[in-house]
Amino acid sequence: MTRMVRILGGVALAALLAVPAVAAENKDIIDYRINLMKTLGEQASAMGKIAQGKVDNADNLAIHAQTIALNVAAAKKAFVPKVVGGTATQAVWDNWKDFNDRFTALETAANDVAAAAKAGGLDAAKPKIGAMFTCKACHDIYRTKTN
Ligand code: HEC
Repeated sequence: MTRMVRILGGVALAALLAVPAVAAENKDIIDYRINLMKTLGEQASAMGKIAQGKVDNADNLAIHAQTIALNVAAAKKAFVPKVVGGTATQAVWDNWKDFNDRFTALETAANDVAAAAKAGGLDAAKPKIGAMFTCKACHDIYRTKTN
């Protein structure tokens, strides 16, 4: 690598890592938590394909369940800044404890499924998957119905 390329690379990296002088924009905060929720949707859908026997990939069940648990842990933090918007309502921050407890319940259920899948495969995990269906109940309370 030439010196010039190294310097340019360093500058680009510095720009990426630069800590902005101002707080994150509200749009970025909303986009970020939506990124996480979309991941949750994709992982839940992938898990469903395995649980319903539509794809034969039982070894991945624990991975998807663990990914969901980790993603929920990240989502809890992503919702800390009080920014009403996207499809999240004011109720999230008015009832923060209930909202957060619902995420914790999902995280616990996902970890249970992962543990059962690792120990006993699909048959052991299947009866535990129902406890992960916490999505709609939370959405009904904490999202607007517009999407
Ligand atoms: C603790 C409450 C809660 C739980 C539990 C929850 N969600 Fe959400 N979800 C939300 C909120 C609030 C939003 C709106 C986020 C926003 O727009 O800022 C959302 C948005 C979404 C979105 C829409 C993202 C977009 O494109 O705008 C998807 C998809 C989603 N959730 C999937 C899931 C799935 C799948 C589960 C269950 C495995 C789940 N959620 C569980 C609260 C929850």
